Amino acid sequence: MNDFIPVNQPLLDGNEKKYLQECIDSGWISSEGPFVKKFEESFASRAGRRHGIAVTNGTAALEAAVRALDIGNGDEVIMPSFTIISCAAAIVRNGAVPVVVDCLPDTWNMDVSKIESKITRKTKAIMAVHIYGLPVDMDPLLEIARKHGLKVIEDAAEAIGLTYKGRQCGSMGDVSVFSFYPNKHVTTGEGGMILTDSTEIAEKSRSLRDLCFIPGQRFVHKELGWNLRMTNMQAALGVAQLERLDVHIGKKREIGRKYDGLLRNVSGIQIPLSSTDYAENIYWVFGVVLADNIPFDAKKAMDMLAEAGIGTRPYFWPMHEQPVLREKGLFKNEKHPVSENIARRGFYVPSGLAISDGQIQKVADSLVKILS
Ligand SMILES: Cc1ncc(COP(=O)(O)O)c(C=O)c1O
Repeated sequence: MNDFIPVNQPLLDGNEKKYLQECIDSGWISSEGPFVKKFEESFASRAGRRHGIAVTNGTAALEAAVRALDIGNGDEVIMPSFTIISCAAAIVRNGAVPVVVDCLPDTWNMDVSKIESKITRKTKAIMAVHIYGLPVDMDPLLEIARKHGLKVIEDAAEAIGLTYKGRQCGSMGDVSVFSFYPNKHVTTGEGGMILTDSTEIAEKSRSLRDLCFIPGQRFVHKELGWNLRMTNMQAALGVAQLERLDVHIGKKREIGRKYDGLLRNVSGIQIPLSSTDYAENIYWVFGVVLADNIPFDAKKAMDMLAEAGIGTRPYFWPMHEQPVLREKGLFKNEKHPVSENIARRGFYVPSGLAISDGQIQKVADSLVKILS
């Protein structure tokens, strides 16, 4: 279908081609090329952090970040149930135990007031995940972490350039991670980044990224790492994309505002908050949740929109309802009603950087039609 509107289309209209051409002309295509360091430094500096470690994707960044904090066997990490599997997988694969809390019905971000009751002697860290364009309420979360001596892992994959009370998302965790998948505000095709101010965590992350080679004894290993190295070609895209970040953020907010204007008074759906006391929505995606009185669920709504030529994505499925985690004996009899509801009644509509006004109008019209 020619006029199908995909859920995401990236925008690569800066220096991407020029920098990629430089990689090819110079022969620097592996992770040893100069764009990698440049991307790490400029990305870290934009978030106001001392160290940046570029990796292959956001999932890998999470896994290495958890390990770099020495979180392992039997340790507990408190995280939102409503997030991507990468967050729980990073904890489980390191031998630790994810402990989940519900999210808030208005921002869809983790309910920070539920964290403290989950802290035990085994708790080592809190994983804060900024969801869909608004941040977690970080100040109370950081205060709980400080009070109980816990580390904070900040997943800012969806929050590149988003600020919380004027502070950059990704600048607040002991270690913070990002993803550069093509639906992110900065894309490298696939890619991720770890940011930290700690030299120790940075060195550990660098070593983990690079198979834990030991300088001077290259093929002798005291620890098992991974090959998570980002290529020079990915970093070349990243440098070009970062130059355009402010433009991308402006465009995303413009798309969000347009949808907001078209859908604000439509009954039967909840749309994202344009702002909270602590942040202005960056509209990573434009999510909608069907109201209780709508007689069908997100799956049916997405099927109807697909018939109208519109791509959508379902909301995350909560961690406490994941078969793979339940089979491990996790989350027995747990209920987190907000996450359960939005997983069944939420989905997001096309909002990629390359979307046109006409496409936004068509999506909004089609949504109104299926709701009436
Ligand atoms: C919050 C969050 N964390 C982690 C990831 C994983 O990133 P990647 O797809 O680069 O592995 C994503 C992916 O979109 C995400 O939304």
